[in-house]
Amino acid sequence: MSQEKIEKNVGLLIVCTLLAVIWGGLVEILPLFFQESTTTTTLVDKEGNKLDVKPYGAVALAGREVYIREGCYNCHSQMIRPLRAETERYGHYSVAAESRYDHPFQWGSKRTGPDLARVGGRYSNEWHSKHLRNPRDVEAASNMPAYSWLKDAKAKNTVGKNIAAKLSALTLVGVPYTQEEIDGAYAAIGDLTEEEVLIEYLQGLGTALSNFR
Ligand code: HEC
Repeated sequence: MSQEKIEKNVGLLIVCTLLAVIWGGLVEILPLFFQESTTTTTLVDKEGNKLDVKPYGAVALAGREVYIREGCYNCHSQMIRPLRAETERYGHYSVAAESRYDHPFQWGSKRTGPDLARVGGRYSNEWHSKHLRNPRDVEAASNMPAYSWLKDAKAKNTVGKNIAAKLSALTLVGVPYTQEEIDGAYAAIGDLTEEEVLIEYLQGLGTALSNFR
């Protein structure tokens, strides 16, 4: 009887549908904010070793700015799904703690190129440098664009210019930078090029989980 009443009254149906969706959303999403496995910054591997996920250093953070500015995320995801084909190719699937200090996160779903969540340490700095200047030099069939201008731009004039303010802003959303790190951020960028800071960022990706591989 009441079912019929709801189905025949559009306004009531909309209200009830909304309530159902809101309730469902709360039940699914709210626990994620409080659950240990999604809020911890400590990873525990199979042998029980504890490992703290560290915030990006100033140089890597500047490199991350280059990554975002150049739109690398348009072709590269940074989230390994828990499927066998993925874990065998890339390594351990991504866990929430790894993205704890990512604002904004770079998970993505577009994979014109491979996932980069575990690319840190896979290649040498020289390889990255060659690859960024002209991907075809190391991977003949690559359709990745060349980013040859990054080697000519000083990071301190672009992404590194406001790096201290950036670190400071990130503390507002819970990234635990110390005042010392903030004060030393601009100096840490020094004379590095955009290419060098980007490589520093890439080489750090997924290294927190290296003992899980
Ligand atoms: C148009 C799509 C596209 C864009 C944009 C792009 N890439 Fe790629 N990338 C690829 C493809 C395809 C490959 C695989 C072939 C190769 O190694 O070049 C690749 C490979 C890579 C690899 C090697 C990964 C591995 O595991 O072998 C790295 C590192 C990389 N890209 C970094 C970047 C960075 C950093 C940027 C932004 C500055 C970027 N890419 C932008 C398409 C893209």
